[in-house]
Amino acid sequence: MGGDRLRVAVLFGGRSAEHEVSVVSAQGVLRHMDRERFLPVPFGVTREGTWLTPEETEQALRSVPLNSYLPLPSLEGNVPPLRPQVLGALATVDVVFPLIHGPHGEDGTVQGMLELMGLPYVGAGVAASAVGMDKALMKALFRRAGLPTAEFVVVARHEWERDRPAVEASVRDVIGLPCFVKPANLGSSVGIAKVKEWTALAPALDEAFRYDRKVLVEKAIAGREIEVAVLGNDDPVASPPGEVVPHREFYDYRAKYLEEGTRLVAPVALPSTIERRLAEMAVAAFRAIDCAGMARVDFFLVGEEPIVNEINTIPGFTPISMYPRLWEAAGISYRELITQLIELGLERHREKQGRLFSPDQC
Ligand SMILES: Nc1ncnc2c1ncn2[C@@H]1O[C@H](COP(=O)(O)OP(=O)(O)O)[C@@H](O)[C@H]1O
Ligand SMILES: [Mg+2]
Repeated sequence: MGGDRLRVAVLFGGRSAEHEVSVVSAQGVLRHMDRERFLPVPFGVTREGTWLTPEETEQALRSVPLNSYLPLPSLEGNVPPLRPQVLGALATVDVVFPLIHGPHGEDGTVQGMLELMGLPYVGAGVAASAVGMDKALMKALFRRAGLPTAEFVVVARHEWERDRPAVEASVRDVIGLPCFVKPANLGSSVGIAKVKEWTALAPALDEAFRYDRKVLVEKAIAGREIEVAVLGNDDPVASPPGEVVPHREFYDYRAKYLEEGTRLVAPVALPSTIERRLAEMAVAAFRAIDCAGMARVDFFLVGEEPIVNEINTIPGFTPISMYPRLWEAAGISYRELITQLIELGLERHREKQGRLFSPDQC
């Protein structure tokens, strides 16, 4: 049926607040993938975390209204186990394109499963995915690579529970106001607050600890929000920069998913020295976490100085998302980008296989 074409599983949906974005990304990829070379096989994951077979997915895709950004999906409850028929269907594909954002998609768990199944996949491996998801680990590696990031402290839930005044004192001493409080492992701005007075710090920490046992408190940076796309494995290249101009005080959950008004400028015109610096830093951030395939690196631009905010290993991938638009601006079409990413995934897989010793070499 598929002939010589590679069967490409496209994974999407899932329990994150970016469920809808992921559905739209997958529809874009399914629609624009080069059908002469690839045969896409969609695997949807419901808001509850149930993985669907390709047949169930096709059905769900027909019934899900697109662009209907719903309130936050529940983060509570157990993850339903993967059913054998889903694993069986996944085992028949040649390569996987994971487009599930956030926990259980972007954090190395899916990537670990694919490693165990011996399947090539697009994008960051297990460690880079996990580090990219954990803002504390990510920032530690950025620092080690000499990349400037906002000053921060990491607070564990047990520390907050045992000695709230000590935590507040360390935020006062090291960070000051205004500051940002964020769960370490989440994304989509969920659980993030900007704190402008000391009475607001404790409630912001309480809220962030609802989502994670580890929370960052970061110095607020007053700057423009600039994003750069990176593509490649051993020799990654950076796109021209783009800018996010939120219509709210910061790029919070409402600005991202519930309200219109935020502008994405892709590409944005900046002085060439700043563009070069951003490109170098984006590639350095990509290398710092040992990323592969793709990532979007987000900055604050303070005057002429870029400060790295974060890296996203599965950036929004709808045809109008920042990542594909930046490559479009660099002359790589959405279709060509999909092809290159699949090829990079296959290349990385071949490399890993080559590294293994066969028993008679030992
Ligand atoms: N230190 C900071 N200074 C200023 N704004 C910040 C800071 N940290 C986060 N923000 C704002 O909050 C948004 C979400 O924070 P971010 O760290 O990117 O988390 P997420 O992974 O949820 O996108 C950013 O896009 C920015 O608008
Ligand atoms: Mg962000």
